[in-house]
Amino acid sequence: MAEYDIIDHEYDVVVVGAGGAGLRATFGMVAAGLKTACVTKVFPTRSHTVAAQGGIGASLGNMAEDKWQWHMYDTVKGSDWLGDQDAIEYMCREAVPAVYELEHFGVPFSRTEDGKIYQRPFGGHMRNFGEAPVQRACAAADRTGHAILHTLYQQSLKHNAEFFVEFFAVDLLMDPEDGSCRGVIALDMANGTIHRFRAHQTVLATGGYGRAYFSCTSAHTCTGDGNGMVARAGLPLQDHEFVQFHPTGIYGSGCLITEGARGEGGYLTNSEGERFMERYAPTAKDLASRDVVSRAMTMEIREGRGVGPNKDHIHLHLEHLGADVLHARLPGITETAKIFAGVDATKEPIPVLPTVHYNMGGIPTTYMGEVVRPTKDNPDQVVGGLMAVGEAACVSVHGANRLGTNSLLDLVVFGRAAAHRAAELVKPGTKHKPVPKSADDLALSRIDRIRNANGSLTTHEIRSKLQGTMQNDAAVFRTKQSLKEGLDKVSEIAGLLKDLKVTDRSLVFNTDLTEALELENLMASALATISGAEARQESRGAHAHEDYPDRDDANWMKHTLAYVDHDYKVTLDYRPVHTYTLTDEVEYIEPKKRVY
Ligand code: FUM
Repeated sequence: MAEYDIIDHEYDVVVVGAGGAGLRATFGMVAAGLKTACVTKVFPTRSHTVAAQGGIGASLGNMAEDKWQWHMYDTVKGSDWLGDQDAIEYMCREAVPAVYELEHFGVPFSRTEDGKIYQRPFGGHMRNFGEAPVQRACAAADRTGHAILHTLYQQSLKHNAEFFVEFFAVDLLMDPEDGSCRGVIALDMANGTIHRFRAHQTVLATGGYGRAYFSCTSAHTCTGDGNGMVARAGLPLQDHEFVQFHPTGIYGSGCLITEGARGEGGYLTNSEGERFMERYAPTAKDLASRDVVSRAMTMEIREGRGVGPNKDHIHLHLEHLGADVLHARLPGITETAKIFAGVDATKEPIPVLPTVHYNMGGIPTTYMGEVVRPTKDNPDQVVGGLMAVGEAACVSVHGANRLGTNSLLDLVVFGRAAAHRAAELVKPGTKHKPVPKSADDLALSRIDRIRNANGSLTTHEIRSKLQGTMQNDAAVFRTKQSLKEGLDKVSEIAGLLKDLKVTDRSLVFNTDLTEALELENLMASALATISGAEARQESRGAHAHEDYPDRDDANWMKHTLAYVDHDYKVTLDYRPVHTYTLTDEVEYIEPKKRVY
């Protein structure tokens, strides 16, 4: 291996990622007096949180009566009873102060006539324990993520947070002696220098891995970098088999059309002009949870009632809402429909198709953000010095299916919780323990191996095979056969990494190198997904298994843990779901059949 010079930095905390969760954690830590670095591969306001549209869930009750206990009930039901109820209680209860905090930070929410935060209905959010839809999504038109991300970045600047922008985190610094994390190694993409960030807590806020699929609403940067680092550190990934398909990605491009469009009164039709959701979800109709709507759309297409020349998509109607409502409440998606579907949404329906949108699974954590590595005696054993927040993490508040608006909520609630926990754990300015050389080697040998890869297949060629396989074999509906074939194929594709070809040998803005580093992260994430899915012999939330169509609580109400080794071999294990609440102010919600 070549010799690499390392530039050293010492911080109390290092946060990797500058989306909503990373920024909320970063300035929360700074505010608590911790010397904090935020290392990010994109400029903070380019993080994927910017793309979130419809709203952030909180039972403010601005439009009609609402309660955090109803929000909790909906989230547990939405999760198909795979969510941990202590964590869900924490999130739904904290939602209300978290949204007011955002308002005070300066988020430009849309307003009601009397000046309150505007709230719209969203899928799966109901009043009075499932009675009828409620208006719970606090919205800034249809650019809520954009508004929140920019405000959190402004807050970070106000707190003088230190950013390392366009730094690509390569691997964690793990101490083999006690198994704890001592920081991270990152590559400064602009000039090729390598940086060692030593920290008492390392917080992974690296987002999801939507780009493991061919068609997704996620940015090209969503490559599961934190998940990959965790897998290479020998730690487990949890519940990766639960991948959310958003019902309304634009047919062809996959761009998101917010569920808020249906919240404002939009509806879906098939080739017969029928509002088919009335058959699948008689109460919630088009506002049933996402897994239910995506499956219904797929069924309509399969049974020959899709629209278009190939009968392969569905229509979303907004034209009846009128141009004034669309321009005031949904300006972003009206523009997106024009650009990406060539459709004037004020006059004609938008062609849509279920599209990969969110990863319910991720790095297992406690509800205070500490990463969990179960032991024989303790399924909730935490890893010293390591935290994860946001889509990279699996707390687990979303279980087998996330409700829309609970992602922005997850980012700010658990970003803040991680800051609180770090402030308890770290005394500012504490001396750092020495990092053993072997800890650096994982990252350095990885950079060296990929930079000098001399095989015959480009990153693009291997990534396309992976994305095509995941799209076909780990889809909305899965079967024994598709999952078995998919697992074999993805394992084979992982083997192709040995034949990787990288042509740019430099270290300066070498996107050939960083895309290959990302591909390894996608590969570990995808393998955990398809392995967990192949093993899970039931249907639950987003995992719709045609050979096992029912939920099986007796055998499968448990979290999957996938350990992906350096040769991409996967070992599965399981961990109990938390079937208890955090306080006795609310009772455990007993499993029942999920109908909308
Ligand atoms: O449809 C949407 O606006 C997406 C929201 C979410 O995923 O939470």
